Amino acid sequence: MQIIQIAIDGPAGSGKSTVAKIVAQNLRITYLDTGAMYRAVTYEALNNHIDLDDSTALRRLVDEIDLKITLESVNINGKDCTEAIRMPEVTQNVSYVAKDAYVRKKMVALQQKIAGDQSVVMDGRDIATHVLPKAPYKYFLVATPKERAKRRLLELEAKGIHITLEEMIAEIEARDKIDQERATAPLVQAKDAKLIDTTALTIDDVVQLILADVLKAGVKRH
Ligand code: CDP
Ligand code: CDP
Repeated sequence: MQIIQIAIDGPAGSGKSTVAKIVAQNLRITYLDTGAMYRAVTYEALNNHIDLDDSTALRRLVDEIDLKITLESVNINGKDCTEAIRMPEVTQNVSYVAKDAYVRKKMVALQQKIAGDQSVVMDGRDIATHVLPKAPYKYFLVATPKERAKRRLLELEAKGIHITLEEMIAEIEARDKIDQERATAPLVQAKDAKLIDTTALTIDDVVQLILADVLKAGVKRH
């Protein structure tokens, strides 16, 4: 069976994980949410009261962490943390942990091992540029900060968390800035990635764009 590698990158709320999951289901291949891995490390660091600027402590943590990520769940050192890694406190701190070069080295190695020689759809910030640079299908999703903040607000409201649109825009822009300006594997569109502005698109529109592009190239569903 032909191996398919699809890399989907972009900033928070651009629709990566929702779209990537559906594309993977449609093609019947594995989906990996790499953001969940950085969230897991951050959750564990916060839980252990580690100073996020202390690279030695972070190094020890990622050397010892036992991370199991499936489509349905995130398990850290034997504990189910699927919901916990989405907490606002994790979201607000994850970009500080994700800029640590050693943390990234470990996570990228794990991601490449998971990809191995199976077909995958992977979403994140550096998939096309660093994790799967040879992936034949690369997409960079964007949307205006206001639209991305609105989407996130809806998700938080469903969980009973209420913040203003302005606060949400500020939080999203602050995270974008750290992700774009970090020294190691910053968030940037790969030269060979296709840009999709999702601001005025539905989830299905984006899924169809990607599927059409991949299937046009002769890829067969698994
Ligand atoms: O879902 P959301 O867009 O809020 O974020 P995420 O995909 O869960 O990623 C959380 C954070 O992890 C990002 O803001 C980045 O700091 C980091 N990340 C990264 O550095 N590289 C990746 N491949 C994926 C996520
Ligand atoms: O993974 P990322 O942070 O890029 O975004 P997401 O978690 O897939 O999408 C954020 C929210 O926006 C979800 O609630 C999606 O249902 C929603 N969404 C949307 O309304 N329209 C799109 N075109 C894409 C996502």
